[in-house]
Amino acid sequence: MIDIHCHILPGVDDGAKTLEESLEMCRMAVADGVKTIVATPHQHDGVYNTPSATILAKVEQLNAALKQAQIPLTILPGADVYIDVNTQEKITSGEIMTINRTKRYFLLEFPSHTLPANIENMVFNLMLKNIIPVLTHPERIGEVQQHPNRIYDLVSLGVLSQITAMSLTGGFGRHAQKCAKTLVEHNLAHIIASDAHSIDSRPPILTKGVKEAAKIVGHDWAQAMVTTIPQQVISGQPVEDLEAPVPIKRRWFGLG
Ligand SMILES: [Fe+2]
Repeated sequence: MIDIHCHILPGVDDGAKTLEESLEMCRMAVADGVKTIVATPHQHDGVYNTPSATILAKVEQLNAALKQAQIPLTILPGADVYIDVNTQEKITSGEIMTINRTKRYFLLEFPSHTLPANIENMVFNLMLKNIIPVLTHPERIGEVQQHPNRIYDLVSLGVLSQITAMSLTGGFGRHAQKCAKTLVEHNLAHIIASDAHSIDSRPPILTKGVKEAAKIVGHDWAQAMVTTIPQQVISGQPVEDLEAPVPIKRRWFGLG
């Protein structure tokens, strides 16, 4: 499996604090069946702004430590990015770290309660430049839980969406769980990732979430969400053979 969203680099954000903790998270991921992790420290979120050069250096250090410890896992560079008006320029210049430096896909994180008012325009302008946002954990955004068709609109524009494995198993509460399952059922979630921050409260485990997704879309598609689809993303290739997004009917909204 490939985990494209993981705060695995030590000492750069609110993820792993030390190299030892990073290695322990890596061991857990390997035991869960993960072979590749994209390291995605927060970038430009107003609190953490890990420079791309630091991400590259830390990825190299962690890969060397993994080799030394004989842990069969590859770390690729990435970032968890807050969108702003200059995102496109920052991607072109390398100031923003795209997923595996493809300059094609990047993880786009929103504030926890709302989507930016002009998000469709911003996304559309990025897509015109062949830059495709991967929305991180839309199921955990209050506005999306209330109005999940906002994600239908964005996915219809061509963005990808990544839900958190722990949301599917209820680790982020009932609202996020229901929203995650609804997005999966309506082809509005393409990738499952851990968004892991630690070994205990937010661990790098995918299989439990994949199992929940399989109950909705079947084993093969749930597996694709952690294998073939993220593989195409880290390769910078077009993601092919996606099912068409389905608008969500009113009965799904909220918890009712
Ligand atoms: Fe994250």
